[in-house]
Amino acid sequence: MKPDKLIDYQQILSKITADCRQIDDIGNVASYIPELGNIDPNKFGVHLTTIDNQNFSFGDSTEKFSIQSISKVLALTLALKLEGGNLWRRVGVEPSGTAFNSLVQLEYEHGIPRNPFINAGALVICDILISHLKKPKYDFLEFTRNISENPNLNYCSRIAESEKLAGFRNAAHINLMKSYGNINNDINIVLDFYFNLCSLEMSCQELAHTFLFLASNGINPITNQQIISSRRSKRINAIMQLCGFYDEAGEFSFKVGLPGKSGVGGGIIAIHPGKYSIAVWSPKLNKKGNSYKGMKILGSFTTKTRSSIF
Ligand code: DON
Repeated sequence: MKPDKLIDYQQILSKITADCRQIDDIGNVASYIPELGNIDPNKFGVHLTTIDNQNFSFGDSTEKFSIQSISKVLALTLALKLEGGNLWRRVGVEPSGTAFNSLVQLEYEHGIPRNPFINAGALVICDILISHLKKPKYDFLEFTRNISENPNLNYCSRIAESEKLAGFRNAAHINLMKSYGNINNDINIVLDFYFNLCSLEMSCQELAHTFLFLASNGINPITNQQIISSRRSKRINAIMQLCGFYDEAGEFSFKVGLPGKSGVGGGIIAIHPGKYSIAVWSPKLNKKGNSYKGMKILGSFTTKTRSSIF
């Protein structure tokens, strides 16, 4: 096996992205959040950052987009710092095998969501953050800017508002959990925080830089900032591996073989612990709500670079 330094990431990614542009994209842009439906479906970006700070960019890699559920990983990271292991009394670590917005399990499992990345689980994490933070929206944004070392990160109020107007399913989730006593704060405050969190915007380049700490035992290898303990970094990666793609987590493990997280904005972040983080963006989603081309690119990438974790 070639040492990492000898892998020609530039050449491999150029070839994969060129091939991928030719593929007929059978996905559809998410439209259940009306503002997301306005995005140009042909946007396409990739950014790879290695833990020794080599960077490779392709296409629209510096254009910001709505990272949606990818932000749930950052919310979990902050919640673990503030609440610690007690958090696991209110949300599980098991794959759901159901869609990200499915209500079915929640009733059976008495308002305890399967994991922190399905919508119900992320709403519980938001509730926990609200209980800890003085100014939750501001404080969460500051946390994200701080770990990214990037003051130019922001929510998109247009998208948050658009989701709020159409957020009936998330309202159903939170009401059900409130009835089981698993939400402590006012449900409208939690929903507002959640919609803002999902509206966070980043480019592929910003995503890859922000998530590099999960490739390096919780420490940003470029700034040496300890963002989370190595034990928790390991656990967050494990949850991404098992739950990051909802009822397609098995398929992502099978084809790509990395911990990762998708968002309905068409972004995917994937991590190779000890090697790199890679972000892709292509807005058309497959039926499970994951970027169609994004999954294809990552599958080819880990095969050609022999860098799946398996
Ligand atoms: O709550 C929602 O439905 C969206 N704000 C986030 C869903 C999402 O990104 C799922 N990921 N693939």
